[in-house]
Amino acid sequence: MNIKKLSLPFIILIILFITIGCVKKFTCSVLNCKIKSGEEITFFIATDPHHLSKNTYDDGKAFDWFLNSGDGKLLHYTDEIIDAFTFDIENSRPDILIIPGDLTCNGERESHLEMADKLKAIKDLGVHVFVIPGNHDIENPWARNYYGDEMIKIESISDEEFVEIYEPYGYKDAISRDNYSLSYLAAPAEDVWLLMLDSAKYKRNKVRTAPEMGGEIPAKTFDWIRECANLAKENNAQIIAVMHHSLMDHNEVVNENYTIENSQDVIDLLLSCDIQIVLSGHIHLQDIKYYERDNKRVYDIATSCLVAYPNQYGVLRFIPGRGFNYTTRRVDVYAWVWENDIEDRNLNNFHKYSRDFFRRRSYDKYYDTLLEISKFSDREMKAISETVAELNLKYFAGFRNELIHDILDTEGFKILHETAPFFIRDYVMSMFDDQKTDNNKIWIPTKSK
Ligand SMILES: [Fe+2]
Repeated sequence: MNIKKLSLPFIILIILFITIGCVKKFTCSVLNCKIKSGEEITFFIATDPHHLSKNTYDDGKAFDWFLNSGDGKLLHYTDEIIDAFTFDIENSRPDILIIPGDLTCNGERESHLEMADKLKAIKDLGVHVFVIPGNHDIENPWARNYYGDEMIKIESISDEEFVEIYEPYGYKDAISRDNYSLSYLAAPAEDVWLLMLDSAKYKRNKVRTAPEMGGEIPAKTFDWIRECANLAKENNAQIIAVMHHSLMDHNEVVNENYTIENSQDVIDLLLSCDIQIVLSGHIHLQDIKYYERDNKRVYDIATSCLVAYPNQYGVLRFIPGRGFNYTTRRVDVYAWVWENDIEDRNLNNFHKYSRDFFRRRSYDKYYDTLLEISKFSDREMKAISETVAELNLKYFAGFRNELIHDILDTEGFKILHETAPFFIRDYVMSMFDDQKTDNNKIWIPTKSK
């Protein structure tokens, strides 16, 4: 066999193989970022919208129970809150919207399809949208119809269907996809790329009775993350990482199943990759923490739940050559109600309604827990529940420092202070031990190269 004759086609084949290999990993869309270098970029971060299709429930007892045993999410108003948020987007025209997971209440197929329609309306306004799944979104065994007195199991979606449904909202524009999860890399701007990390553990949900709440970044994904970071560096782009679960603890008592299981490994990895900012959701708490080593910092900015009081979202501004400015903004439900002549009484008084609803859910939750412990009198239980409900309103909104001293004089706090440690006491005390920082704003300067 004449090897020389074979060598040219063989070489072409090798070249083709290498080229196709590259294209599969990193397409040329890298070179075609829509936002050019040197431009300011505004990102909106709206997390845990937990959309619930109105077709999945009626005004019967089953939904009433479900709604009123929850954590303060306004599941009966997700449609309206997301539409009001879209009206905010129409008025403010951010460049990019990021949704770090829990797009639906419990992964109902119908809720996902409606959510995708809502995202289409946002994309049609010229906003690039990027989503990743949360722990509620895929193969969720809790997906239900709530009809009359009954809760009827309904279809959720698979991981492949998640990619299909949300294809225009990240996956289509991904310049690279991880082989082991739904993580992807996107380059919407020449200066800032998005590393969308899938931290949810849905693979065994099908055989479970409840969705897996905890999260992790699979160790098998680490090499891919390093490749993404290197590619970004070669292109002079900074990476913002996004994940559903917390990168680090946001509360020293409540963190199990909220913080990713391999937190320290991922922190080390991100520090070694010079990734400074992680945007997360899941815990429904407005809270900013950072980890520092050898003069390097990585921030975990947890934005609170869009559909729970105070119904806010993050606004992150990238100022070229200077840094990132994060603030929060509340959904302007009134403006949307006014614009659309909505007559619903709760929506017309939305701020108070949402606040009261959240407070009531908090109060009931702690009162029920105290009942189970049966250690306090009814008066004491009421006083403690009042104190914690009031504290939670501020805590979840990221403003605990404002209230911390007023709480010292409440009867509930005095009872807790004098009692032996138990979960509720530890939780309240954890707020006093927390960093006294403003969790609704931060300025993160760009690192000098
Ligand atoms: Fe979640």
